[in-house]
Amino acid sequence: MRKITLGSTGMEVPAVAVGFWRLNRKTDVKTAEKFIKTAMENGANFFDHADIYGGGEAEKIFAEAVGMTPSVREKMFIQTKCAIVPGKRFDFSKEHIIKSAEGSLKRLNTEYIDVLLLHRPDTMMEPDEVSEAFDELKSSGKVRHFGVSNENIWQMEYLRRNLNVPISVNQMQLSIAHCPMIQSGLNVNMFNDSAVERGSGIIEYCRMNNITMQAWSPLQYGFGEGSFIDSPKYPELNAKLKELAEKYSVSKAAIALSWIASHPAGIQPITGTLKKERLADCLKAADIVLDRDEWYSVYMSAGNILP
Ligand SMILES: NC(=O)c1ccc[n+]([C@@H]2O[C@H](COP(=O)([O-])OP(=O)(O)OC[C@H]3O[C@@H](n4cnc5c(N)ncnc54)[C@H](OP(=O)(O)O)[C@@H]3O)[C@@H](O)[C@H]2O)c1
Repeated sequence: MRKITLGSTGMEVPAVAVGFWRLNRKTDVKTAEKFIKTAMENGANFFDHADIYGGGEAEKIFAEAVGMTPSVREKMFIQTKCAIVPGKRFDFSKEHIIKSAEGSLKRLNTEYIDVLLLHRPDTMMEPDEVSEAFDELKSSGKVRHFGVSNENIWQMEYLRRNLNVPISVNQMQLSIAHCPMIQSGLNVNMFNDSAVERGSGIIEYCRMNNITMQAWSPLQYGFGEGSFIDSPKYPELNAKLKELAEKYSVSKAAIALSWIASHPAGIQPITGTLKKERLADCLKAADIVLDRDEWYSVYMSAGNILP
């Protein structure tokens, strides 16, 4: 599988990552084991977690499924997230960040986290507290690298000015059918709806500052509405994906993921399927590079516009 360098971490990681938002106790450990084995066999050894996934069970199921030991651990990259207290608040306090990371270490049965992300921006944050938490986690060896998720340029810039460690990742919702930050960047200074400022410049900011963008929900539209793959809401997009899928002998989903991975910013899509056959297929996206004509034709087939 093609690899990318993750921000300023120096880590060479697969161009497509595997996410566990949807993993919970409805999936038995044996099924999870086969799923993770499929990922590893296909070179996908970068796994995205969060303290809250599966109500806190996803990290545990993962560790049970791989039979976590130091030798298993060194074959993979583990990223997890903190700072959401579901239904209550976002929490960038020092106490919460450290407690959450320590909880993840325990559930994952590991000595270290490769990358810890702040899950969603906390407007009540004190940057010094975040800095102290990151310094403590780094110096104790519990966390190697840090990043954020769902942050705009100023949130990243403000944090970066107050931290002693680099921000290496920003994980954002991004798919062909959910790409406001690309739409608003392409429609600057127009009167159409796409010109409304919805994150334009985030990709460029990340490129300038050596921050890898990761794309969550790469096959979804809206917020929890469903996948655009085979959706009657997206006939033109599905026809275009089918055409390219036939050209590259992969599935429509793999083309949709390659649309993200082909962007020159080196964006890393995170898959969400829990079906091993679908996963194996999705991972082929890493080695397909759409050219400019193909990329823009997919973009427009989803109803996205150019001025
Ligand atoms: N940072 C954040 O705020 C945030 C938020 C959400 C998610 N995430 C991360 O992003 C990851 C991916 O998000 P996601 O789960 O929404 O990803 P996704 O890949 O866009 O969606 C996966 C879902 O689409 C379904 N699906 C339908 N057709 C499919 C096809 N042909 N191929 C593959 N899947 C198909 C899957 O069902 P089956 O399982 O039945 O295949 C699954 O329910 C998460 O696991 C998590 O790690 C981060």
